[in-house]
Amino acid sequence: MNPVVEPLSWMLGTWLSDPPGAGTFPTLQLFQYLEEVYISHVGQPVLNFSFNAFHPDTRKPMHRECGFIRLKPNTNKVAFVSAQNTGIVEVEEGEVNGQELCITSHSIARISFAKEPHVEQITRKFRLNSEGKLEQTVSMATTTQPMTQHLHITYKKV
Ligand code: HEM
Repeated sequence: MNPVVEPLSWMLGTWLSDPPGAGTFPTLQLFQYLEEVYISHVGQPVLNFSFNAFHPDTRKPMHRECGFIRLKPNTNKVAFVSAQNTGIVEVEEGEVNGQELCITSHSIARISFAKEPHVEQITRKFRLNSEGKLEQTVSMATTTQPMTQHLHITYKKV
């Protein structure tokens, strides 16, 4: 592994939701989802990721995103670059501290016919909990709602 990304090595692996993730938002009914996560490296100073969500009953594919996580060498500054199947491309930046990564969107671009309401800001927290499970919490602000939690999910390593 490239030593630059060593502070993020706790994220590496194949992860599966356990228990199913919980989706919330003031405009939505509570929902559950399954998610497979692959976080890998190829020796570059960057991690590669893909997040693949599925309906818990039908296993129908739902939200998907993939991208890269970069660390500014000799700092704890992190950049997270993601392309989503909904037609959003975003850059988030933040910091890794121990086994916790907190990031906030700096730019969000979308296709011209993206569904409304549009997301205006995204924040995420990843952490490795005391049971060795990876957790992700996603909050967002949209054109109709202030910053509110949208997702919380815990993954076990498989
Ligand atoms: C709805 C954004 C990840 C499932 C939405 C809405 C937005 C959004 C803007 C519309 C909210 C409204 O109508 O007020 C995002 C962003 C994500 C993300 C920015 C990642 C950073 C996910 C994931 C799932 C998911 C991983 C898991 C299945 C849903 C569902 C709805 C929804 C079921 C309601 C139905 C729909 O509009 O398709 N999301 N989402 N989202 N999201 Fe997400």
